[in-house]
Amino acid sequence: MKVDQFNKRILITGGAGFIGSHVVKYFVHQHPEIFVVNCDLLTYAGNLSNLKEIETAPNYGFEKQDIRDLNAIQTVFNQYKITDVIHLAAESHVDRSIESPTDFISTNVLGTVNLLLAAKEYWKNSMNSHRFYHVSTDEVYGSLGETGKFTETTSYDPRSPYSASKASSDHLVRAFHHTYQLPIVISNCSNNYGPYQFPEKLIPLMINNILHQKELPVYGQGLNVRDWLWVGDHVSAIHRIFFNGQDGETYNIGGNCEMKNIDLVNLLCQIVDSALNRPDGSSKQLIRYVKDRAGHDLRYAIDASKIKEKLSWEPSMDLEQGLKITVDWYLQNTEWLNQIVNGEYQNYYQRHYSKRNELQY
Ligand code: NAD
Ligand code: TYD
Repeated sequence: MKVDQFNKRILITGGAGFIGSHVVKYFVHQHPEIFVVNCDLLTYAGNLSNLKEIETAPNYGFEKQDIRDLNAIQTVFNQYKITDVIHLAAESHVDRSIESPTDFISTNVLGTVNLLLAAKEYWKNSMNSHRFYHVSTDEVYGSLGETGKFTETTSYDPRSPYSASKASSDHLVRAFHHTYQLPIVISNCSNNYGPYQFPEKLIPLMINNILHQKELPVYGQGLNVRDWLWVGDHVSAIHRIFFNGQDGETYNIGGNCEMKNIDLVNLLCQIVDSALNRPDGSSKQLIRYVKDRAGHDLRYAIDASKIKEKLSWEPSMDLEQGLKITVDWYLQNTEWLNQIVNGEYQNYYQRHYSKRNELQY
């Protein structure tokens, strides 16, 4: 089947990462009438084994490309006759952004501009029948005190190189809407968790360390608060916004599940101990309070009433239940974790995948 026989050809960037792989699988499964092109550079965070179940689907294609390369992106638009973009590719970890801010500017800012330029040029004669969806973060709004929540009208106040780069990319997406009438939509989402999350982020890092009885590094006093969202709920929100969101609008997505880091780590210890039949309380002894993250944002919390009212979306997963499912997934997929720890996952493209690039679309 030729790509132009599909109703839409959606370019999903960052589809080999944590959230992107869930989005790609959902669209490929739910929409056989849509062709999904996953464009991902396969940085340390990209893992094609996340996508095993759909890699031979007739409505799926993979392009190993760098969004910082405008020519490469333009070629993808031409080759697949791209009708829509869901943009998730990014450098995504705050701690890495503190170590190496430049990478975040080049991928998150310049990479986004390249995608915007390619879309503007390719869609110039039929602008209104397309959509450019930017998946962003609540961290653009800065840090909250003990009370209050971020709404869509909260002023931007990014405080880490990561959030500053995402804020910048949000501004550019809006600028392309106002200046060139590019049809856009943006969502700003709270912290996600669930299967396939790279074990540098709090929840999978702690699960991996508890599993291997390694120390559990809690930054500062562990009093920082995050609003946790089940990744499947994020995917359903993205799907809803992609099809029903209003042109030019922003939607906040949150889990209604605020928790202090130390409480979350204690809960994870309890869940893993019980799943592994370890004596209750044994893993908590591994907790170590370590030097705080520089510029550590105290609290994030989302007011998701707009998406509830306008698009009838609400999160469905209870946090404790979601954490149990997540822990079970990591315990049943130790091979996935081990391949990350030993670097083997980065060979997946060579071993299983490069042949597909020989196929003609
Ligand atoms: P991730 O780090 O797991 O995945 C990022 C993906 O982007 C990887 O597959 C990587 O290979 C790819 N990538 C990186 N640089 C690239 C480049 N130059 N060209 C092409 N591909 C490149 O990230 P994630 O946690 O899945 O987050 C996805 C998006 O959602 C990001 O834009 C992030 O800002 C946003 N977001 C994440 C969260 C969260 O809790 N994880 C919350 C809100 C918003
Ligand atoms: P993280 O998963 O890196 O997400 P973000 O910084 O984007 O919110 O961190 C979540 C919270 O957990 C944050 O307050 C920092 C804290 N944290 C630790 O205490 N220890 C760790 O090892 C990590 C990775 C994070």
